[in-house]
Parts: sequence; C-alpha cells; structure tokens
Amino acid sequence: MVPSSLAAAQASSRGSTKADSALDAFTAEWRPKIEAALVGCLPDGDGCPPILAEAMRYSLLAPGKRLRPLLVLAGARACGGDLTAAMPAACAVEMIHCYSLIHDDLPAMDDDDLRRGNPTSHKVFGEGIAILAGDALLTLAFETLAKRIQPASSAAACCAELGRAAGACELVGGQADDLAEEGKVPGVAEVSARTNAESLAHLEAIHRRKTGAMILVSLRLGAIAVGADVKQLKALEEYGRRLGLTFQIMDDLLDVQGSETTMGKRVGKDAARGKLTFPVLLGAEESLRRAQTLTAEAIAALAPLGSDVEVLEDLARYVVERNH
Ligand code: IPE
Ligand code: IPE
Ligand code: MG
Ligand code: MG
Ligand code: MG
Repeated sequence: MVPSSLAAAQASSRGSTKADSALDAFTAEWRPKIEAALVGCLPDGDGCPPILAEAMRYSLLAPGKRLRPLLVLAGARACGGDLTAAMPAACAVEMIHCYSLIHDDLPAMDDDDLRRGNPTSHKVFGEGIAILAGDALLTLAFETLAKRIQPASSAAACCAELGRAAGACELVGGQADDLAEEGKVPGVAEVSARTNAESLAHLEAIHRRKTGAMILVSLRLGAIAVGADVKQLKALEEYGRRLGLTFQIMDDLLDVQGSETTMGKRVGKDAARGKLTFPVLLGAEESLRRAQTLTAEAIAALAPLGSDVEVLEDLARYVVERNH
C-alpha cells in the first residue's frame, strides 16, 4: 500500500516529517484547529454527569482521522469561503460520526472491543453510558450548528441537511439494513434468492447510506456554511457521492487485508459475522478496481470548481490508498 498522505500529515502535525502535499499542509494547519474546536464544544459540566462528560470526551477526542471535518473545511475552501465559518459544521459531523461509531460497536450491533486503538466505549463505561454518550453527541451536533453557524438561515439549512443524512433514510437506515443482512433483525427475513447484480445494488445502497451520506453531507455543509452557489454544490455532490462509496469499499477491503495495529480496530470481523461486503461479492481485486475508478471519477467531477481543489483531489487519492 502507498503510505497515506493524511497519515504523513498526522505525523507531521506531531513534528516528525515535513509537509509534502496540499493535503499534508492543509491537515497540519487545520487538524489542530479541529481538535481545539471539538474540545470547545464539549459540555462544561453544569448539569452533565461527570461520567457522561468523560464518555463523550473519550470517544470524541480519540485519535480518529478527522476525515469528515477535513472534508467540510476542504469543501468550504473549494467554494472560496472562510474556513472558520465552517468550523462548527466540521465539529458537528465529527460528533455524529463518533456517536455512530459508539453505537456501531455495541454488542447488539457489531460487538467490537477496539476503536481508534482504544477499548470501545461500552467496554470502558458500560453499555448504558455508551448508548447515552452516543445520544448526547448526536444532539450536541445539532445544538452546535444551530448556535454557531451564521446567519440563522444557513444554520437552519445545515440542521436540515445533517438531520436527513444522519437519519432514518440515510445513516440509520443503512445501519438497519446492514444488520438485517446479518439476520439480526427479527421479523425481517433474509433474502436468499438475489442475483449477484441485485446483491451488489443492495450492498451499494447500504454503503451509500450508512457511510456515504455523512461524507457527502460533510462537503455540502462546508459549502452551505460559506454560501456556495448551486454550481459549486453540484460539483461537490458528484465528487462526494463517489468518495463516500469508495470510502466504505476500502473499509471493507481493509477489514480483509489491513492490520489491526495500523487500523486501531479489529480486522477480519466482517467475514466472521457474515456481513455482506464488496470483497465477498466481487473479490478483493475487483473491489479495488471499482474504488480506483470511482476515485478517478470523483477527481474529474471537481473540474467545474476551478482552483483550490488540490486538497479534495489529495483526499480522494488518500481514501483509496489508505492503510487505516
Ligand atoms: C469508520 O470511519 C467507520 C466507517 C464509516 C467505515 P473512519 O475510518 O473514518 O474512522 P475514524 O474516524 O478514523 O476513527
Ligand atoms: C460503520 O461501518 C458505518 C457506521 C455508520 C459507523 P462498519 O461497521 O464497517 O465500520 P467499522 O469497520 O466498524 O469501523
Ligand atoms: Mg457496522
Ligand atoms: Mg463496525
Ligand atoms: Mg468496517
């Protein structure tokens, strides 16, 4: 695997290598600001039980890649906007993402014990507090947008967009269908007689919702927060749809081919749980080919935006080359 530029940038933000790409420079500059902004959004303790505050902090500040916040900010930059104006949206998408990870790891869902190199939330705090920490991060995302995005009309638009992407027809719906594929939803029969093409279409629909929707909305929020026009939004959407599907194809592949140490989460779990994944349906090589084709299409879709798209181009390459 090619070393990821985001990983290099993360290393560079820790002072060990020089920045050598647009993404490296962007990450070195903006990642510390994202981390500081996330800290600034956490509840200050008044009325929030300390154990709940600790559980929220534990997951939100764990060393994730911060891909979604970086997409918000890179989307804002590609639209020629002030990145600081988009920072509350960057925080909000990371909060939703973290809540979805906490719940995804629960015994009733993927039953995982390792996340971002640390024990999962329910292993540390118990299932009850883990569920509630997820609930609290989910609601904090909308409070953050409503209070901190200006003007109020943009805040309302961001809340509506994020509500849709995180909701029953997108993220949560995709997660529900993902569970159903494992036979874990009582009353929903497993479909045994799908053709391969039907299975692939169904899997794509799961991936676009459970993972793609949050990646797409990250770009849209960045654009809305800086007052982008319809043409800019459209180009980001074409890019984001392809990037979102690519991201989950690579996540599926890394579950087969990745290393637990690099990933900070268990590998080989999807096959063990009988998940429907791209490598299962297409094999590893063809899955990677699809991801590479989607990446080329995603980069081409940025053309109408003109300048300031290097970071988005690098991010697309990073997603398909990443090893964690
Ligand atoms: C993991 O997302 C969950 C999926 C949607 C596949 P990431 O790979 O972005 O996880 P973090 O944020 O870096 O931990
Ligand atoms: C999770 O997909 C998507 C979410 C909405 C969190 P996975 O279940 O494949 O993510 P990992 O592999 O546990 O990170
Ligand atoms: Mg899952
Ligand atoms: Mg999982
Ligand atoms: Mg996975």
